[in-house]
Amino acid sequence: MDKKPFVIGVVVGSSRPGRRGPAVAGWLTEVAARHPSVRSGVAAVEVIDLAEQRLPLLDEPVPARFGDYRQEHTRCWSAVVAGCDAFVFVTPEYNHSIPAVLKNAIDYLDAEWRGRPAGVLSYGVDGGGWAAGHLRDILSEVGARVVDEHVELGLFADFEWPGGELSDPTAVARVAPGEDRAAAVTALLTDLLDAAREPAPVA
Ligand SMILES: Cc1cc2nc3c(=O)[nH]c(=O)nc-3n(C[C@H](O)[C@H](O)[C@H](O)COP(=O)(O)O)c2cc1C
Repeated sequence: MDKKPFVIGVVVGSSRPGRRGPAVAGWLTEVAARHPSVRSGVAAVEVIDLAEQRLPLLDEPVPARFGDYRQEHTRCWSAVVAGCDAFVFVTPEYNHSIPAVLKNAIDYLDAEWRGRPAGVLSYGVDGGGWAAGHLRDILSEVGARVVDEHVELGLFADFEWPGGELSDPTAVARVAPGEDRAAAVTALLTDLLDAAREPAPVA
């Protein structure tokens, strides 16, 4: 019987109309398809778009740590996340932090994140480093095993603007990072696979 692949969930962390998140996740997925573990079928990448999850602002009466989910949408979200073995969070920077939709989606769950390897790809005017730092702290708090490698894409450095300008907030961008960024994605995926092989830390 074929062994189930190691599933890496790529979480698209923005939901606004016209967002760039799906294009960034698409680029990451293309790079991931060239990773030896993905090519050999050992690992697989699945995009999880928070805009499609349509979670309301947290409406569970009991904190997620107790695992007592009362809402159907929470149970659905739990099943989606539990189906992954590791995660790459694709987050833009909003006001020096992560989008509310991403924080809300993380807050809904607890055990589903705990012990699972997680990495961050941030993007923003200058790479979204503030958002990445906040996200790493949040993921550590829910017990994810946050890997060292991370990827930053700058709106000037790593995007092209055919027929538009960065100063136009609705301009459609093409994600066009250099090979160094692709190499960082490959290293991040390798870190996730390596982390999964290490024994789980004692809680
Ligand atoms: C509400 C909001 C706040 C933003 N704040 C920042 C910021 O603090 N730093 C930054 O580099 N870019 C900031 N930006 C620019 C975003 O990083 C950029 O528009 C990015 O494409 C947003 O991701 P999205 O297109 O997936 O929504 C902000 C954008 C929005 C919509």
